[in-house]
Amino acid sequence: MRAVDIICKKKDNNELSKEEIEFFINGFVNGSIPDYQASALAMAIVLNGMNSRETADLTSVMMHSGKILDLSSIKGLKVDKHSTGGVGDKTSLVLGPLVASLGAKVAKMSGRGLGHTGGTLDKLESIPGVSISLTQEAFIKQVNEIGIALMGQTNDLVPADKKLYALRDVTATVESLPLISSSIMSKKLATGSDAILLDVKYGEGAFMKSVEDAVNLATVMVEIGKHLKRDTRAIITDMEQPLGLAIGNILEVKEAVNTLKGNGPKDLVELCLEAGSIMLVQSKVYEDREKAKEDLLKNIENGLAFKKLKEFIKAQGGDVSYLDNLDKFETSKYVYEIKAKRDGYLKRAQALTLGTSAMKLGAGRLTKEDLIDYPSGIVIRHKIGDKISKGEVLATCYTNYENVNEVLKEVEEAFSIVSEKVNPLPVIAKYLV
Ligand code: URA
Repeated sequence: MRAVDIICKKKDNNELSKEEIEFFINGFVNGSIPDYQASALAMAIVLNGMNSRETADLTSVMMHSGKILDLSSIKGLKVDKHSTGGVGDKTSLVLGPLVASLGAKVAKMSGRGLGHTGGTLDKLESIPGVSISLTQEAFIKQVNEIGIALMGQTNDLVPADKKLYALRDVTATVESLPLISSSIMSKKLATGSDAILLDVKYGEGAFMKSVEDAVNLATVMVEIGKHLKRDTRAIITDMEQPLGLAIGNILEVKEAVNTLKGNGPKDLVELCLEAGSIMLVQSKVYEDREKAKEDLLKNIENGLAFKKLKEFIKAQGGDVSYLDNLDKFETSKYVYEIKAKRDGYLKRAQALTLGTSAMKLGAGRLTKEDLIDYPSGIVIRHKIGDKISKGEVLATCYTNYENVNEVLKEVEEAFSIVSEKVNPLPVIAKYLV
């Protein structure tokens, strides 16, 4: 077999066999196939696509290119949720303990934030004491004992994706359904979950700008899951505006705690109840989503979900007194309010701009090496469709930096108010369940 023949075959829009995909990806990972040939194949895939069998084979080969987590000693079905990335997306902090409080097994590997999107690991580490460097044994033991554990993605997981993604990033070959979906799914599948719920975001702050594109990506990923015999389902959710109100690490932890205590923003609560009920059915803890939803709500009201969060944070080494008393958290030195300049209805609260501004205030990193300032960020006070009066606060900005006038101006421009009534956006646009 020769790499050039495989490139040529895809260039001519023919189907690649599993053996050819295996030969190419393994050769690329071990260095016998150079970057320029891998770039050429990636471009041929961008231009000519792959069918669902090829995409599933590519995913499987990538998934097996490194270590695969063996979670078979966890009792019960392991369920995971994966979001394609968003602004203010603290769903995992709420959803994990919430479904674990009803008996689901959540063995989760998460990443860090980069650019305008935040990462679950950073948010968790903003709670003093929390550690995400668990050994595999400790991770499994914790899931068996309390139903939930979280660790950082290890470097030996899916090396093919690390190498290929770096190349795609600089060769204009990121935008391809088979390449994106195999990249995401190979990492998810290598972490050993039996069932996966995909939260595919659409909108201004998301990778996929339209509902249609998000549905297409979700469909390909659900197909991959089916081929590889994992229960994979998807929801398509709004990222035109931030999820909930808070953007930034400590600010989002506080919102997650309040949500688990029954005082969450409407959109976040709805997303967590919908996603949670699907995950409980996937875990086979419940047969019926409506009954699962009822019990999820009950566990928020009776305090069991918050209790599970505290057990989880304690097991990860965190100081739970911060969760009991949110005022203990560090606060930023400077606080600025952005006010409405007119009466009307909120038409836009741009997620991408607000996410980028929160990052510039200290909440995120531009490069992997940047440090995060945990108390910084933005809390928006209104969602699309809200009636607004002139002078009302639209957002509160928290930072430890001086001279942030430019950023404050960007935050102001992220909002637009119009005279005519605006319909609120649905949180979940589509279900693939
Ligand atoms: N996220 C990934 O993990 N991979 C892609 O290719 C795109 C987004």
